[in-house]
Amino acid sequence: MSSEVKKRIDTLRELIRENDYNYYVLAEPAISDYNYDMLIKELEKLEAEHPEFISPDSPTQRVGKDLTKEFKAATHKVPMLSLANSYNEDDLNDFDRRVRKELPEGEEIEYVVEYKIDGASVNINYVNGLFNTAATRGDGFTGEEITANVKTIKTIPLRFKESKDIPYRLNDVEVRGEIFMKVEDFKKLNNEREEKGEKLFANPRNSSAGTLKMQDPRIVAQRPLNMFAYVLISTEENFDSQSENLQILKKLGFNINPETRLFKTINEVLEYCRVLEEKRYSLEYEIDGAVIKVNSIRQQTLLGSIAKSPRWAIAFKFKAKQAFTKLKEITWSVGRTGAVTPVAELEPVLLAGSTISRATLHNIDEIRRKDIRENDIVIIEKGGDVIPKVVAVVLDERKENTKATEPPLNCPVCSALLFQPEDEVAYYCENTECPAQEKGRLEHFASRGAMDIEGLGEALIDLFVEQGFLKSYADIYELKGKRDELIQVDRLGEKSVDNLLAAIEESKKQPFAKVLFALGIRYVGSGAAKKLAGHFLSIDELMGAAEEDITSIHEIGPSISGSVIKFFSDESNRAIIKKLVEHGINFKSEKRTSTETFFTGKTFVLTGTLSTFSREEAGEKITALGGKITSSVSKKTNFVIAGENAGSKLSKAEKLGVEIMNESELMIHLQKAENK
Ligand code: IVH
Repeated sequence: MSSEVKKRIDTLRELIRENDYNYYVLAEPAISDYNYDMLIKELEKLEAEHPEFISPDSPTQRVGKDLTKEFKAATHKVPMLSLANSYNEDDLNDFDRRVRKELPEGEEIEYVVEYKIDGASVNINYVNGLFNTAATRGDGFTGEEITANVKTIKTIPLRFKESKDIPYRLNDVEVRGEIFMKVEDFKKLNNEREEKGEKLFANPRNSSAGTLKMQDPRIVAQRPLNMFAYVLISTEENFDSQSENLQILKKLGFNINPETRLFKTINEVLEYCRVLEEKRYSLEYEIDGAVIKVNSIRQQTLLGSIAKSPRWAIAFKFKAKQAFTKLKEITWSVGRTGAVTPVAELEPVLLAGSTISRATLHNIDEIRRKDIRENDIVIIEKGGDVIPKVVAVVLDERKENTKATEPPLNCPVCSALLFQPEDEVAYYCENTECPAQEKGRLEHFASRGAMDIEGLGEALIDLFVEQGFLKSYADIYELKGKRDELIQVDRLGEKSVDNLLAAIEESKKQPFAKVLFALGIRYVGSGAAKKLAGHFLSIDELMGAAEEDITSIHEIGPSISGSVIKFFSDESNRAIIKKLVEHGINFKSEKRTSTETFFTGKTFVLTGTLSTFSREEAGEKITALGGKITSSVSKKTNFVIAGENAGSKLSKAEKLGVEIMNESELMIHLQKAENK
């Protein structure tokens, strides 16, 4: 009996898988929705009656019920590199020349040209053909595990499709691809969000990336995410070529971008890039260029990589999408540092999938250079960044009697006289109590990379500042004594106030480095904050440090140290910090981090020619990170770093069994240590 049931379950799963593939990957449904639903219902029923047969790759198991509390860190077995960019024919010719120079003379080279999909990249591990885990790219070395969310995506198989003609062992492999949302689906999602009064996504890429980081996989399952797989990686098999790799992925049931082509010369590559550029407007999804890859994996290995990008591939960026519109007004916005930046208020216009009504104008020099005036017809452009910019004015359409734009004399928010430091183009409002600066500082303090106070966003901060609840960030921690008053504010309600107060309490656990970043000290970005917090173990140590103590930290220069000293010598800043300490904010680090790197205490010998820098430069970097360089190889040597044409030192290392490192491995270690 039960073997009958098992058989039926297997048949149902196979049928559903086949139909999912037809529907989602091929977009050629083979049965009616009704019949499909019947198959699902029958399978669900049998699995409910026989839970012993439920397996993680069953089509019913795509959507988990458990919320993810926090995303665990996941280290990639093979780093996820990024791509260098090219923009024109010359750049592509240079790329081709570099490739040919590095490969043995006379070798034939083929290039694969693919679309560069504008989404979020993901790394999926399959063990014995079954979906195991999935992770975001992160910094290329370590990402976040988002398995439950990625499993909900129907174009990604939970088990490889059976295929007899794949001549490789695929016991433990990684599939990499780009997760994206079709433009139409993105618009639909934003419309629904608008109706519900929810925050809108800026573009399809953000909506894909945002969805992948949601805590509830049931909501992710309702979002129309797709994936184009672009590479299969195995540490135990040597594949032949990128084009073969894509064919294997296709046979395993993945969605492969159909526009991919193979060419023999860089001229053909360029020609095809132009075809793809033209075609972008008729696509259902967003792309931001093409990717050109050397097809042969053997050649890819010979070429290797420099720093974070491979020598065997390059991105070809398309021209940014442009639109014409009227610039109604130039307004000036005041940021948290007091810098006053011009903003173009535009007649709303559709550009690359979203409606644009504001664009940045950068600074007054830029406005003068381009002679941008109110009431002009302007060309706006959306490049790699989310924020659109004004690139030029259509002078032929300029009305008579328009006036050249001048910066305001007074702060548009608090009316204080503006000041322009000698060496800067920006004008500053120097009134530290200017409400716009206060709001900006509070927003930064509460933001995700800083204290990460969920719910305390721009709108609520504006409201609280206007109603007098907040002025400095220490006030945030006094809100809990005002619960009853807050509930009355703009009908916030008990639940949202309690959630907010809980999030504020939770933020007290943020590590010292995030707290330091949150303080908004000029030039202290998240990287510098990490280094400071890893060196000085408490706020007292940091406040007591002399400028030279601070500059002694690797990669902390005089502008950062000067700014830190200035910040802590300000009485009002000291008063705020005192209050934060009293509220129990974490101003201590667990352990010293920045001094310990991969290189600390190890001995290295450099030999052969390196391509990214000279041996001397490499040596300086290693020494700065705590390593020691010696000239001859002995048993005490920890690593021999071997460049091109390495000779006797390399053979000695081999004889003594000293570990050998190639240039790209060195680059990866340097990057990691420097980012620490
Ligand atoms: S190959 C070393 N192929 O672009 C090779 N990447 O800057 C790097 N991307 O993070 C990946 N479409 O998310 C490759 N057809 C494609 C791609 C693609 C989009 C993204 C990917 C990666 C970024 C590289």
